[in-house]
Amino acid sequence: MTNNDSRVLRAELLSFDADPGEDDAPAEGSVCHIVDGGIWIENGRIHAVDDYARLAPELPEGIEVIDHRGKLITPGFIDSHVHYVQLEIMASYGRQLLDWLNDYTFPEECRFAARAHAEALSEAFLDEMLRVGTTTAQVFCSSHPISVDAFFSASRQRDLRMLAGKVLMDRHAPDALCDDTLGGIRDTERLIGDWHGKGRLGYSLTPRFAPTSSRAQLDATGGLMRNDASLWLQTHLAENTGELDWVAALFPGSRDYLAVYEQSGLVGPRSTFAHGIHLDQAMRARLAERGANLAFCPSSNLFLGSGLFDRLAAREMALNITYASDVGGGTDLSGLATLKAAYQVGQLRGQPLTAWQGFYGLTLGNARALSLDGHIGRLAPGMEADLVVLDPAATPLLARRTARSRSLSETLFALMMLGDDRSVAETWAGGRLQHRRAA
Ligand code: GUN
Ligand code: ZN
Repeated sequence: MTNNDSRVLRAELLSFDADPGEDDAPAEGSVCHIVDGGIWIENGRIHAVDDYARLAPELPEGIEVIDHRGKLITPGFIDSHVHYVQLEIMASYGRQLLDWLNDYTFPEECRFAARAHAEALSEAFLDEMLRVGTTTAQVFCSSHPISVDAFFSASRQRDLRMLAGKVLMDRHAPDALCDDTLGGIRDTERLIGDWHGKGRLGYSLTPRFAPTSSRAQLDATGGLMRNDASLWLQTHLAENTGELDWVAALFPGSRDYLAVYEQSGLVGPRSTFAHGIHLDQAMRARLAERGANLAFCPSSNLFLGSGLFDRLAAREMALNITYASDVGGGTDLSGLATLKAAYQVGQLRGQPLTAWQGFYGLTLGNARALSLDGHIGRLAPGMEADLVVLDPAATPLLARRTARSRSLSETLFALMMLGDDRSVAETWAGGRLQHRRAA
């Protein structure tokens, strides 16, 4: 899809060139902050970024300049782990992981056998994502191929950069959701052929988690991964203690949970493991060595009572961390809400998250860990024009708080603690305005 429109957005700009580190002050050279900047967009990509005063003389006559002074533009947010098929079971009361799956999740996912439902929920999910400033996500569909066709088709229609895949499960779930072991692999191959690399779409192999796949299905998934290094992989790891006991009983030949995935060749630089709460340093080191990433899903971990993710233990092992909503276990699609929960989990662990680290994580950090940083994650020439326009005065309370900010980091922190969908004035993706907050 081409977009021949060109325009300039004028606002305060924030983008990262490197990890800002854990200190209160960001590492030298990590932050690109322009108080009165311009982003020149051409054909869906960023053509130039500069001080507005320096950019203005370069602009073609008559180009549209959208004046967002007073607002802050960052790269579009990225959600590294989310289930679109669970949108309508968010906020289901009182269960931890395994009962929550059986009582709420699996019955809901059965509904995605129907094309009309999958299409309607794909549109609803994308509307919600764009409303909170998320322009890219790595998405679990259901085990029905039609759920993947519907999601990719809706994403392509909007020219979004999205990763997604069909859930692979061949046991310990309702029959209506279970694959015939190799049939699920053949369906996956068909979906890869139809969607991987089309426009801005990428396929993520999606074995749900160790308990719902036989060794044969995990091995066959590893075979697909070996055959095509451009594929992604997403699954769950060490989220809940009941899950850990179950995995140990199901795979007595594996020395730990991670080994179940290693033995099938599923741990690589494009692999995302959601949660990873109950790990030891040796497992974190093994993940780091392979270049995999752990998706930190703080609102889900609190909601399902799964535990407190140890972010600094992962960083100590140089293990990549990504930030994710994990809706429907998560309580909010918003990246800002994810950062708020991450800060709260961090406080309980004595490792509070700085605003620098949080906004880096939602943008370039997630892009790098997902190997998407050649396309998205920075405001820089050549990058795809996926942007969020944040309003630090979106509500009377936010306006009061940010009026007192003495620094950008205070404003960012206020946005991450007090912000929500109302703080997102506009969301742009592929150079197109995809969402504007109602007046
Ligand atoms: N583990 C296996 N499936 C799921 C799921 O759908 N959500 C979460 N949070 N954990 C899982
Ligand atoms: Zn999940």
